[in-house]
Amino acid sequence: MPMHRDADVVYVTREIPDAGIEVLESNCEVHVSDHASQDPPSKDEIITRLRKLKADGLFCMLPDEIDADVLDASANLRVVSTLSVGYDHIDIDAAAERGIAVGHTPGVLSETCADLVWTLLSATARRIVEGHQFVEDGEWKTWAPKMLTGEDIHGTTLGIIGLGKIGTAVAKRGAGFDVNVCYTSRSSKPEREAELAECGIDATYLPLGDLLKRSDHVSVNVPLTDRTTGMIGREEFQKMKDDAIFVNTARGEVVETDALYEALDKEWISRACLDVTAPEPLPPDHPLLEFAPGRLVVTPHIGSASIPTRNQMAKMAAENITAALRGEPLPNGVRTSSTSIS
Ligand code: DGY
Repeated sequence: MPMHRDADVVYVTREIPDAGIEVLESNCEVHVSDHASQDPPSKDEIITRLRKLKADGLFCMLPDEIDADVLDASANLRVVSTLSVGYDHIDIDAAAERGIAVGHTPGVLSETCADLVWTLLSATARRIVEGHQFVEDGEWKTWAPKMLTGEDIHGTTLGIIGLGKIGTAVAKRGAGFDVNVCYTSRSSKPEREAELAECGIDATYLPLGDLLKRSDHVSVNVPLTDRTTGMIGREEFQKMKDDAIFVNTARGEVVETDALYEALDKEWISRACLDVTAPEPLPPDHPLLEFAPGRLVVTPHIGSASIPTRNQMAKMAAENITAALRGEPLPNGVRTSSTSIS
């Protein structure tokens, strides 16, 4: 017989912003993993905690692999909500089979993630990380005409792979940099094109191969799905311009890491900047880092990591949980067939 409890029990796999905890605590009994915020619990630990707590809700994040074993850990589990827009770490079909609702945080992080795309692109084009290192290393002796010269962004063509909400926010910022924008997705997106036209961006739809050939810089903004896994490999890098900068802030697995290494090594492209990698985290002795910082800049998956955005994400993810536990539809539930990162 199910045990009677005064409140639903929610397990949170890591320390989260207070905005999320407040929403949860006003409705539920909350148990936060006692791991330090950067140290994820293992899958076995998540299973053990869910089982012991007989948890009704699970608040998880990107590094947590939520598969059938996790979903079966507590017979009471009715909702899983992730502090991210991407949900490729959750077995959505297994959740659907068990009647467990899944929530995420679309939209709220698009602008913050788009800011990072431009930050990385500018930093890489203008050799900011290398320049900082140069100063710290005491190598700045004078001003010199060829010192740390990089690429221009203004007046170039930016190719955006995936025109979802983040891709569109990236494209909008192109107006300030006076770039031409082309994009690719499964089909052209007239509504997005109209939205961009209002911001002064004339976005051209191109098939992937043509986009790669025509773009001076390429930004990947697709979700990780069966269709996008490994979508950028040797063939794609070989189509890019040899002075192109390649930006990936979507998911590491969209790109074949060996092919990226070869593209940098054989100078099929000029530079790359990555906020996501495969493997992730990228170990400090990974061969790719041979190219850093001059031709490669890597950040540790911080696309949505601004304080206001993380606060809002925590609140949204918590509201998904409390709605589901009240038996209401999730304000931001996952659709079972995803087409674009929001
Ligand atoms: C997400 O939320 O899926 C993004 O990867 C955050 O950067």
